[in-house]
Amino acid sequence: MSVIALVPAAGQGVRLGVGRPKAFVELGGRTLLEHAVAGLRASEVVDTVVVIVPDQLVVAAVRLVPDALVVAGGAERTDSVRLGLSAAGCADDDLVLVHDAARPLTPVAVITRVVAALRAGAVAVVPALPVTDTVKRVCDDTVTGTVDRGELRAVQTPQGFVARVLLDAYSKADGAATDDAGLVERAGGTVVTVPGDPRALKITTPFDLAVAEALTGGHA
Ligand code: CTP
Ligand code: MG
Repeated sequence: MSVIALVPAAGQGVRLGVGRPKAFVELGGRTLLEHAVAGLRASEVVDTVVVIVPDQLVVAAVRLVPDALVVAGGAERTDSVRLGLSAAGCADDDLVLVHDAARPLTPVAVITRVVAALRAGAVAVVPALPVTDTVKRVCDDTVTGTVDRGELRAVQTPQGFVARVLLDAYSKADGAATDDAGLVERAGGTVVTVPGDPRALKITTPFDLAVAEALTGGHA
């Protein structure tokens, strides 16, 4: 059974707002896409990497990550993952990691924890962190309740799956989801957590990029 990593990198990066797709923005001299792929390679548990990029950047991506299979993505993240899955041509018992290019500093230990949980028998695995802020439910700027944060987790990537389970979830998906495990949950699958890591932060806004730059000291 092979481990295949899909790297969705076909978003436009509207909230980062630097005028080019986020995966092609540099952090310490390397693009976010190169960081994400390098982390997967460094884990030494991934056999094949498939990166999914905007159509017009396929050639640029081949140059940046020559050891990966590069395919064009779609309008929504779900479309991009679906295209990556079909290009990967997984066997049912392969293991699939889905890892956002937007999480360039994900420690190798997070990647190996996800794969270890799959090898130990889980069919769907997400790295998760406790929520430290108090979380309120709000309607029209008025608080309507306080959520018990003890049962909340913020989840990261890579999310890992037995291929058969992810393919089944995507075949049943009727709309977009913000993560892949959400589709498995909707299809009735059991998703388990392993510890995430704050360094696996997702770069969404200019503030997040500044935090990542600070973490790398400018030379990641
Ligand atoms: N992604 C993708 N295809 C899309 C949309 C998103 O492959 N059609 C990828 C992004 O490139 C990113 C990951 O999914 O690595 C998480 O998405 P997000 O953080 O929302 O990135 P963007 O969509 O690029 O950002 P924004 O929503 O601000 O435009
Ligand atoms: Mg997006």
